[in-house]
Amino acid sequence: MRRLNDALKDCATDVDAALDSLLAETGGPRARVVEAMRYAALSDGKRLRPFLVMQCAGLFGVAGAAALQTAAAVEMVHCYSLVHDDLPAMDDSDLRRGRPTVHKAFDEATAILAGDGLLTEAFAILASPQCHAVAEVRSELVAGLAAAAGAAGMVGGQMIDLSPQRGGLDLEGIRQLQSLKTGALIAFSCEAGAVLGGADPAARVALLAFAADLGLAFQIADDLLDVLSSPQEVGKPTGQDAAMEKATFIGHLGVEGAQTEAQRLVERARARLDLFGQKADLLRDVAEFVVARRR
Ligand code: IPE
Ligand code: IPE
Ligand code: MG
Ligand code: MG
Ligand code: MG
Repeated sequence: MRRLNDALKDCATDVDAALDSLLAETGGPRARVVEAMRYAALSDGKRLRPFLVMQCAGLFGVAGAAALQTAAAVEMVHCYSLVHDDLPAMDDSDLRRGRPTVHKAFDEATAILAGDGLLTEAFAILASPQCHAVAEVRSELVAGLAAAAGAAGMVGGQMIDLSPQRGGLDLEGIRQLQSLKTGALIAFSCEAGAVLGGADPAARVALLAFAADLGLAFQIADDLLDVLSSPQEVGKPTGQDAAMEKATFIGHLGVEGAQTEAQRLVERARARLDLFGQKADLLRDVAEFVVARRR
């Protein structure tokens, strides 16, 4: 895991630098929203999704630097989703990445706008020739991110997560909810690497199967941390899912059952990468990491 931790740290350094320059401070009357966007994005996240973009692109010989704009765009969408997820109308969380949430540090209207700003800016980045020289590649990235983030993806998942009917979901329904709210963006992160690398169909299918298992394992681990960890450790409130009667695997399988399911998904995710041989070793480590992580 040491190798993975170093690689994650290097990725975070590069992503931080990219976000810092993409979200340049402005003066004047709109400075506040940019300040809030920077507050949301330039914080201590794991940068898992950018890492997936860059590692998956690397499978096809794409250098990290050539995938960095795409990686930063995905992270912006993720950060937007966190800002809105934390709002009083949604999970009503005060703490994120170890510090006050955006609506606490600023105010609700600014948090909504900062989320909107990050989401929109992400597409501007993907559409820019700096992201990729070939227009078809850029448009495939734009379409893919839009699908993953929208009502057929993350937004749809968040809707189910908040709906009063969530209590009636069976395990398959929860799997569907998690695949949309968390899985879709994780899947796009891997797919984006394949798009940047011009992957053949078999490689794409394998990566998407890997990502589907990884995304589910990731969200089960997030739900386990909500039960088993402390705000000091995870940098966000804990015990919220039970308090808000969220639909989780833990509710159906118990803690141990959810742990077993997450581990099963990790094993399967790793096996999906057989096609890539040793080149995918760090991605295999990522699968272990998503369930072993402490935050
Ligand atoms: C948290 O995602 C939100 C979920 C989708 C469960 P991460 O655990 O990747 O959060 P950061 O980016 O490291 O803060
Ligand atoms: C949020 O899931 C997933 C998003 C799309 C942001 P959670 O509500 O479980 O994420 P945390 O636990 O607040 O990070
Ligand atoms: Mg939520
Ligand atoms: Mg939340
Ligand atoms: Mg959670």
